[in-house]
Amino acid sequence: METKDLQELLDDMSLEEKIGQLIQLSGDFFEVNNISIGPKQKLGITQKTVDLTGSLLNVTGAEITTKIQKEQMAKQPHHIPVLFMSDVIYGYKTIYPIPLGLGATWNPNLIEKAFQNTAHEAASSGNHVTFAPMVDVVHDARWGRVLESPGEDPLLNAKFAKAMVSGFQKDLDKGSGQVSCVKHFAAYGAAEGGREYNSADMSISNLFQNYLPPYKAAVDAGAKMVMTSLNTLNGIPATADKALLVELLRKSWAFSGTIISDYASIFELIKHGFAADQEDATQKAFDATVDIDMKSPCYANNLPKLVEDGRLSLDRLDEAVWRILTLKNELGLFEDPFKRVSIEQEKKSLLTDSKRKLARQVAAESLVLLKNNDNVLPLNPKAQKIALIGPYSDSKYLLGMWAVHGNVEDTITIRQGMESYLGKDKFKVANGTDISRDYKMLKDMGYFSDEQIDQMISTEDVEVKRQQTAIETAKKADTVILALGEHTLESGEAGSKTLLRLPENQQQLLDKICKLGKKVILVLISGRPLVLKDVEPKVDAIIQAWFPGTEGGNAIADVILGKINPSGRLSMSFPYIEGQEPIYYSHLITGRPQGASQHVGRFVSRYIDTPTEPMYPFGYGLSYGEIEYSDFVLRQKEITQDETLTVSLTLKNNSSWDCLETVQLYLHDKVASVVQPVKRLIDFKKVFVKAQQQLNVEFEITSQELEFFDNQGQRVLEAGAFELFVGPNSRDVLKESFTLVGES
Ligand code: GLC
Repeated sequence: METKDLQELLDDMSLEEKIGQLIQLSGDFFEVNNISIGPKQKLGITQKTVDLTGSLLNVTGAEITTKIQKEQMAKQPHHIPVLFMSDVIYGYKTIYPIPLGLGATWNPNLIEKAFQNTAHEAASSGNHVTFAPMVDVVHDARWGRVLESPGEDPLLNAKFAKAMVSGFQKDLDKGSGQVSCVKHFAAYGAAEGGREYNSADMSISNLFQNYLPPYKAAVDAGAKMVMTSLNTLNGIPATADKALLVELLRKSWAFSGTIISDYASIFELIKHGFAADQEDATQKAFDATVDIDMKSPCYANNLPKLVEDGRLSLDRLDEAVWRILTLKNELGLFEDPFKRVSIEQEKKSLLTDSKRKLARQVAAESLVLLKNNDNVLPLNPKAQKIALIGPYSDSKYLLGMWAVHGNVEDTITIRQGMESYLGKDKFKVANGTDISRDYKMLKDMGYFSDEQIDQMISTEDVEVKRQQTAIETAKKADTVILALGEHTLESGEAGSKTLLRLPENQQQLLDKICKLGKKVILVLISGRPLVLKDVEPKVDAIIQAWFPGTEGGNAIADVILGKINPSGRLSMSFPYIEGQEPIYYSHLITGRPQGASQHVGRFVSRYIDTPTEPMYPFGYGLSYGEIEYSDFVLRQKEITQDETLTVSLTLKNNSSWDCLETVQLYLHDKVASVVQPVKRLIDFKKVFVKAQQQLNVEFEITSQELEFFDNQGQRVLEAGAFELFVGPNSRDVLKESFTLVGES
């Protein structure tokens, strides 16, 4: 529609029609059983509001969206099409690994392609907007939503933010893209104590340096929507934070798109103690330019009065409505609300072989080899009798908590993956125990009925028999693949935990298996870093598999059998113990750094009962090959702020394995007016190094990489001494120094 026609439409709309465009309701208002995630709220809205609502939440499928679109448009006085918005976070029907696994690929280009495929699937099913990517920087594995984030580093998350937004929106003009709604703005990942929905509080320099860059990257990549977060940030709920949403996002970052609240977060301004009542909450969220009220009664029941009383200008209301009409117009919905949606199109698009093939490649690159004693992996099935044991040995629940549109029936299990290579009955399988036998924990998940839990926990005698069968099966094998892990609902939204270990019943099974003197390969299915200090010494190899998605079983078999050389690198630190959380590599050194202080003995920054460093550091991962780093050279030892510093190094592949190696480059600013972290990632390259070959790798560093943010949120460049580190992870590095000279 031409702009002038859109303007005429806006001018012709009634107040209640305009307000309807600012409301989002879930499918249960439209006789659709709804995946309602988040707090349920009796809304107390009129049927008129339902008829005029401008967008729907988590209703997808070509047939149902077409049906509802027709019904809604018929009810709308100006027949304005609705937007369908949904949580298509790491796949629609073809589910990829959880984003913490996608982060471990260190391969944004690959993930861009994956998200382009995801957009095709979701668009064919009638979805217009995805509430993704979630790019919150995460430092605390106790928080269940680390699952949804690419990880703990702002640069890496920013690279993935750009790739994911680009992938989603690439084919918008062809009608097969998705509008990307980046979330959660802002700093939800800093929830205190890793406790869900808890407050985030930090210095301005920390916010700008470590938490905001990924959202900025998403906005710069053209994300057309932003979702506000449920938390307070420095005492202000993000959903009504004018400094954050107006001054920073809309003015400083020049974001002209649509802002949507998170689920009921406008209503929750009252709960936060920031708004006195719904009217106050409405006023404050609207003043912060939140355009759409997701699943709360505030805008519907209070905007009319605020406008009629003159406390809210009609112009401001029109601005919000204009942004949403513009979005619908950009999608071509006025010309053809159904142009991209059909059951035939949907069938052609979902779970195609090529999409599965890409999902398998992504899953394989997401797997992180944490341990491989005596190169026990890869297995040689011709020379070894293999047993596959554990509750995840043949489970289809490899999708993770936020794969809300995925179907577990489509998943390839680890057993199926292994059988595709070895054939059926060529290795023994025994699940050995349930995923969880912890009635209280399953109940506390707040999701299952008592009857469902009874179904999930086998009786004691079944449990004893099953463990016995598993042990007998293991005794007859040379090598055991032990597939263990978290229940799907132990992570994801509202999945905060204080204990990050395998369930007790699984640890018991592991102990019994590991006493048999066999080689044991532990495959871990989890939505977060787990505490492995009691597990690691007992097993010969560990593969961190996350929730690897629809093709997870094939990818795990690919790596275990050596068809693919693992290349995953952790994008989030693994602690020795929960008490170390939050733990992340880019920490400050303190005035009494352990091992480098003038103080002796106890009076240094450490724990007296646990190491200070993580068990597995950011960037860590093994491969079957062996890459040697050497000749780390800086072309200049001094640069001015207008010069580019070129650094190079040599990688030597001393193995018979072709390797994908992620070379990581870190910086430390030795003296600064705001103390800088011991290291921060400033660049990385994932390169192919052929067996027995060597490769020269170069990086170029400009003064922009040397800047940091001060406590006014301003970028600062200060002359002085810097250190550079390069290596396969954030711990095992080569170091060189240089100086930035001159005034800055
Ligand atoms: C949830 C989540 C958000 C999601 C929204 C809609 O509460 O916080 O990430 O997109 O509700 O389901």
